[in-house]
Amino acid sequence: MQTPVSLFTSWPEIPAPESAAASALPASTPQQAPVVDLPIIPVAQAETAASELNFGSLSALAEKAATCRLCGLAETRTQVVFGVGSETADIVFVGEAPGRDEDLKGEPFVGRAGQLLDRMLAAIDLDRDRVYIMNTIKCRPPNNRDPRIDEVQSCNLWFEQQLELLQPKIICLLGRVAAQTVLETDAPLGSLRGHWHDYQGIPVWVTYHPAYLLRSPAQKQKSWMDLQTLASRYQHLSA
Ligand code: URA
Repeated sequence: MQTPVSLFTSWPEIPAPESAAASALPASTPQQAPVVDLPIIPVAQAETAASELNFGSLSALAEKAATCRLCGLAETRTQVVFGVGSETADIVFVGEAPGRDEDLKGEPFVGRAGQLLDRMLAAIDLDRDRVYIMNTIKCRPPNNRDPRIDEVQSCNLWFEQQLELLQPKIICLLGRVAAQTVLETDAPLGSLRGHWHDYQGIPVWVTYHPAYLLRSPAQKQKSWMDLQTLASRYQHLSA
């Protein structure tokens, strides 16, 4: 494995915010989910409805999620951002929520933070095709505000089924919001990093969100330590 120094220099300074990210997007009209005239339904009803649904595959689940109207974010999103990567991945990375670029493209982590996530994956010899990347919630909160509790609760239906179908061997939570949401805690990120957690029997590791690392590059060193521990456990899976 490479040294931390070369790894950190291999995470480039990524150019300017909006323009650079936007120009990375395809010029074509973004894929729009089919317009389906469904009412927004309360969480309790949604849970009942979900328990009656039986999705046999991730693609069937994604197709259903694409028309989701379980919370108010359905009114403001461009499209549902379900997840990307290998359906047989041993490791799943979970972010917070789609941002502007993701909302337009329909894929998680495609903006500046996503470019850094790609570098982080490369640093431990992984790439998007070998992992699965998703968010705690599937639709962009307006102005990138933190997801609200009702939105998280509604989206938990998709989140749980997604993980049930993926059956990963490791989950890596990126940043405070993902960590607090999935681990159902209000503990600060600092106290959640550095030890293993459990989500329904799956080992969970917590590290910094790449967007935070873009704002606070001094934390990349600690992030590298996190990634090494993660990589070591991942490598032991196939040993
Ligand atoms: N930040 C996230 O948490 N998720 C994304 O998909 C993009 C940015």
